[in-house]
Amino acid sequence: MPAVVVVGVQWGDEGKGKVVDILAEHADVVVRYQGGNNAGHTVVVDNQKTVLHLVPSGVLHRGTVCVIGNGVVVDPEVLIQEIDQLRERGYLEDESFLKISDRAHLIMPYHRAIDRARERLRGEGLIGTTGRGIGPTYEDKMARIGIRFADLLDERIFTEALRRAIDEKNAYLQAILKEQVIDYARVYDDYRRYAARLAPLVIDTGIYLDRALAAGRRVLFEGGQGTMLDVDHGTYPYVTSSNTIAGAACSGAGIAPNRITAVVGITKAYTTRVGSGPFPTELLDDLGRKLQHDGEEFGATTGRPRRCGWFDAVVARQAVRLNGLSGLAITKLDVLTGLKKLRVCVAYECGGRRLEEFPAGLSVLNQARPIYEELPGWDEPLSRARSLEDLPENARRYITCLEELTATRSVMVSVGARREDTIILANAFTA
Ligand code: IMP
Repeated sequence: MPAVVVVGVQWGDEGKGKVVDILAEHADVVVRYQGGNNAGHTVVVDNQKTVLHLVPSGVLHRGTVCVIGNGVVVDPEVLIQEIDQLRERGYLEDESFLKISDRAHLIMPYHRAIDRARERLRGEGLIGTTGRGIGPTYEDKMARIGIRFADLLDERIFTEALRRAIDEKNAYLQAILKEQVIDYARVYDDYRRYAARLAPLVIDTGIYLDRALAAGRRVLFEGGQGTMLDVDHGTYPYVTSSNTIAGAACSGAGIAPNRITAVVGITKAYTTRVGSGPFPTELLDDLGRKLQHDGEEFGATTGRPRRCGWFDAVVARQAVRLNGLSGLAITKLDVLTGLKKLRVCVAYECGGRRLEEFPAGLSVLNQARPIYEELPGWDEPLSRARSLEDLPENARRYITCLEELTATRSVMVSVGARREDTIILANAFTA
């Protein structure tokens, strides 16, 4: 019953889509367990780019069951569009290969309206959310006023819950946020339509996964965002509204902790983040712009340019500890080609003190200066490398340095966007 969890080590966008896509070849079931359509996974197959926001990347493998777990917040309109697009491309012909948890919460139009209006009101201090209504939906879940798929499919419960919610949200939207109100009848009609379309896919996915694992099926859990965007352990308040670490696979998919057999952390060979918030190794100069350009660092969900900087081992070590990483998948190593010298942050300096661990306080973080170790670069293109021996010596040295600083072995190194541009060192399902 191998159950492998894949998480982002940094602030998201580490290239999880590609890694999950490769691992999914060995999986019978692929599961999303938190986040929503704030995530965007780009996968390149046969030179065709596919961006997935809600459906797990396993969908590109015929015969793989994809599960949207209870911890995910689902915008049904976006999900239906994604299903339709996938079907147009010849995927998901049999829709029973996609299963949605009856306990997953729904993103409603008022959640999106509140998310965007609040960001506008925050002005300079904005979080830089994706504007998809993720935070307000999780708020309602915790406030116990959310609407789940099980509620959507029960007409009486849905009618009452929606009436209550719209009354409350409209008062808030109008009086506090100075926004337009939401029309009850329109939302009701739209969501009844979504209910009819999605009802056949809605099941108790916790039970489904328990049975799958008990039957020895290989299950892959695909984390959204990254460890540093975790609502508890990330750069709060510049975080997403869910727990993104591996432990969240248990609560967000409804599986027991002792089911998990391996956790793979995906990290870029450098660092990026979108949105606001602390980023100690950020490069605000030409080098940062070069990484942004060469790495095509523009958000898959919002198209926003990503902030770029050096690899940060303080961040990576925190991810190793919080997620119990059994291996690292290093992505975008090829983007560093052509740089004379590479830098890796080993600790921070703050007020004359050396910090080995990521601090919680924002003012400490704002003063933290990275302490760098310097390594020699390489000029050779890497995309044809299929084993470590194919890499230039300095690229191998760089990988070893990341392994040593994090005390974690690498299991995969990505040297280009395509599925085949990858060095596979260990299979998380068998090794
Ligand atoms: P939210 O998740 O839309 O509420 O946004 C909160 C923060 O998380 C913002 O800084 C977003 O840019 C960031 N974020 C959310 N999802 C992703 C992702 O998939 N990749 C990178 N950043 C993300």
